[in-house]
Amino acid sequence: MNMNSEDDERKRERPARRLTSAFVAAGLTMGVAGGFAALTAGTSHAATTPGCTAVYSVGSDWGSGFGAQVTITNNGPAWTSWTLTYSYAGNQTLQSGWNGTWAQSGKNVTVTNTSWNGSVATGGSVTPAGNFTYSGTNAAPAAFAVNGITCSGSTPSTTPSTTPSTTPSTTPSTTPSTTPSTTPSTTPSTTPSTTPSSSGNGGEHVVNPFLGATQYLNPDYTGEVNAQVAADKAGNPTLAAAEAKMAGFQTAVWLDKIAAINGTGDSVHHGLQWQLDQALAQQKAGTPIVAEIVVYDLPGRDCAAIASNGEIPATAAGLTQYETQYIDPIASILATPKYAGIRVVAVIEPDSLPNAVTNQSKPACQAATPYYESGVAYALTKLHAISNVYNYVDIAHSAWLGWSSNMGPAAQEYAKVAKATPAGVASVDGFISDTANYTPTTEPFLQNPTLQVGGQPVDSAKFYQYNPYFDEYSYDQAMYTQLTGQGFSPNIGMLIDTSRNGWGGANRPTALNSSPTTVDSYVAANKVDQRPFRGDWCNQAGAGIGARPTVQPYGAGNHIIAFVWIKPPGESDGDYPSASHPHGDPHCDPAGTQTDGNGGTYPTGSLTLGNVAAGQWYGAEFSQEVQNAYPAL
Ligand code: BGC
Repeated sequence: MNMNSEDDERKRERPARRLTSAFVAAGLTMGVAGGFAALTAGTSHAATTPGCTAVYSVGSDWGSGFGAQVTITNNGPAWTSWTLTYSYAGNQTLQSGWNGTWAQSGKNVTVTNTSWNGSVATGGSVTPAGNFTYSGTNAAPAAFAVNGITCSGSTPSTTPSTTPSTTPSTTPSTTPSTTPSTTPSTTPSTTPSTTPSSSGNGGEHVVNPFLGATQYLNPDYTGEVNAQVAADKAGNPTLAAAEAKMAGFQTAVWLDKIAAINGTGDSVHHGLQWQLDQALAQQKAGTPIVAEIVVYDLPGRDCAAIASNGEIPATAAGLTQYETQYIDPIASILATPKYAGIRVVAVIEPDSLPNAVTNQSKPACQAATPYYESGVAYALTKLHAISNVYNYVDIAHSAWLGWSSNMGPAAQEYAKVAKATPAGVASVDGFISDTANYTPTTEPFLQNPTLQVGGQPVDSAKFYQYNPYFDEYSYDQAMYTQLTGQGFSPNIGMLIDTSRNGWGGANRPTALNSSPTTVDSYVAANKVDQRPFRGDWCNQAGAGIGARPTVQPYGAGNHIIAFVWIKPPGESDGDYPSASHPHGDPHCDPAGTQTDGNGGTYPTGSLTLGNVAAGQWYGAEFSQEVQNAYPAL
C-alpha cells in the first residue's frame, strides 16, 4: 500500500461514454396537472396490455433551471425493482433527485428505485423527481422506458433486463404520491437515511448498506488481536485490557492476492467463502449483516512504491489474468445464492486511480494506467451485477488529491472509468477516502486554510503546500461535489477509513494556540497530524486508532455515510531493505526519506520498532496505536 503524495501537482486529461436506450416517441399529450405542465408518453399503436405509462411534468421553470417529476405507472406484472430511462434533447443537467437514485450520462437520465420504492404492483405508480439546470430551450423528453421496456403500451415479452432484487421486499407495494407539490429546495434530499431493509436478510440493494446492519467481525483479525492481548497481559495488563477492546470492531477482509481468495495466502488469513460462511453464522435473525472486502490485486499494483507491489504484471495478459483468475472467482463466490443476504461492501483497488491521476511521470504508473482503468471497470461491472454487493471506489485522501489541480482531474478519471461499465455511474455506490492512511478526519484547530498568520495564509505552510484540504471531512465534502458534478448520483455515499487516523496521546494539541507568528510554527503548534510530512504513509510513529466504525457519524443528511476500519490496525504497511533482508520499500525505513516533488526532503515518520512485511502482524505498532487512540478506547 502506498499513499505517496509525490507529484501531487500533476494533471491529466480524459474522455466519456453514453447509455443506450431506444425511446419511441409515442402519443404525447400536453396538459396541466396540479400546477405541473404534464406530458404523457405511453399511449401508442396497437396497444394490447400496456407495460407502463410515464407522465413527465415540469413544476417550475426559472429560466436557468427547473424541477421535474415523472410518474411511472406499472401496467404489467409487478416490479420488484425499476429503472427509468429517458433522454433530453438539450443541455438539461441533473443537480439533485429524490424518490429514486438519479444519474445522468450525457443527455441520458437513469433513475433507479430506492430501497423503499422498488416494489410496484400492477396498477401502482411511483413519482421520482429532480432538479435540473439548463440554458436555451427546455424541451420535454420525447419518450421513456422502464426496465428497458419503452412505455409504449405493450406488455414486456421478456423479463426486465435489470437484476431483480433477490428478495421480495416487504415494503409497501405502492408508493405514496409524496412528490413535493412545490419546486423542491435546492438542497438535494439525498439523505442516505434510507429505510433499513425490513426483510431482515439484506439481499436487496439499499442506499446505505451499513444502516440497520450488524457489522461482521473478521475472526482472523480477532485472532490477531487476542494473541497480542495474551502476549501483553502479564507485563502490561492495562494495555492488554485496552487492546482487547479492538476485537469488538469490524475490519475488512483484504483479498490482496489471487491465493487469498481461497485462503492460502498465509497462515492467518482465511478465504472469501470461509469469511462469508462466518458472516452467515454471525447474522442475527431479522437483521442484515454487512461484511467488508478489499479488492486489491490490479496488474502493476502499487506502481509508485514497492511495499505492496502486485503479483500480476501490467500487461494485456496480466489484465486477462486479473479478470479471469481474480475478479471472476470473487464474483462467482459473492453471487452464491446463500450469501445473498449479506451486504458486501467492496472497497475497490486502493491507490490505483489516484496514481493514474498524479503519478504519470513515473514510468511504472504510466504503463499500468490503462490496466488500472480497464481492471477497475471490470471489477465494477462484475460486482455491481450482484445486488447485495456495494462498490466503493478508493479516492486516496486529502493530502494526495486535495490540490484543485488534482481534484478535478481525479473526479473526471473516476467518471471516465465508471462510464466505461454497462451500468455507467450507477456501478458505483460511493467512494472511500483514507484507506490504510493516517490523515485525520478533522483538524480541529486548523479549520480555515486562508487564515492569515504573519501575512500568509495557513495553507501556504510547508506541511500543507497550498493544499486547502487539511482533513478528510472537508476533502470528502469537496470530492462529493466534484464527483456528482461529473454525473455520479447525488446518493453516492462517502466512507472514511478511520482505523489509524486518531492521533491521540501526549502530543495531541488540546486547545488552539494562536501565539505562533509564522505559518509553519502555527501549523506545527496546532495540527493533530503528527507526521513530519503529509505524504508519509508507512507504519507511522505516534499514530493512534481513530473514531470507531460509525454509521451516519454526522447524521442522516450528511454525504459521509459511515466511518469504517478498512486497514486492520496492527497489520504492517510494509517492510524496508536492511542488511539481513533485501526486500522492502525505503519509504518504510525509519531512517529513510520522502520527497515532495518540489525538492523538499522529509523523514518517512516510520516506526523504529520492527521491520514487518505488508499485511503481517506488527505487534509494537498495534500497541502504540491502541495507546494513542483518539477517542481513547
Ligand atoms: C497490504 C496487504 C494487506 C493489507 C491489510 C496492505 O497494505 O499490501 O497485503 O493485506 O494492507 O493489512
